[in-house]
Amino acid sequence: MKLSRLIPALFAVAAIAITTAVIADENHEIIEKVMKEGLKGDESPLAKVLEGGASKDDTAGLAKLIKTMDGTKAPAGDQADYDKKVAELIAAMDAVAGGATDEKALGRLDKASNCKACHTDHKPKKKD
Ligand code: HEC
Repeated sequence: MKLSRLIPALFAVAAIAITTAVIADENHEIIEKVMKEGLKGDESPLAKVLEGGASKDDTAGLAKLIKTMDGTKAPAGDQADYDKKVAELIAAMDAVAGGATDEKALGRLDKASNCKACHTDHKPKKKD
């Protein structure tokens, strides 16, 4: 291959590599934001919603935040399985935000937001 043709090809490969890295980064940022701002800790919006102590606005805010996970790539594990878990989490959260705060709706959300169930399959293992 002539150099004049090789160079554009190399640029194309580099562009794809950079794009892939950026998408992976954004993906991580979206999930991280939901985890840290919505789910993590005893005082988290999720904990408050599950205890029944969240305001309507906070509940709606959490539903909106959780929805950003829609369409994210599974950082690990099977994508279809991850999509199912995310969809169930969004649906359960939406039901509660929509006014269903009975035991059944909260139980569904509690189950859908099970940290370990999702992390075991889809959170990358720490490299040390
Ligand atoms: C539907 C799936 C799912 C559920 C449910 C879930 N997580 Fe996560 N969580 C993830 C994924 C995926 C990652 C890894 C993100 C990455 O590394 O890109 C993660 C990462 C995290 C992190 C690390 C964030 C960082 O990168 O610094 C924390 C903290 C966390 N989750 C807390 C929780 C807590 C607490 C719960 C339960 C109340 C929970 N998560 C429930 C999918 C989930």
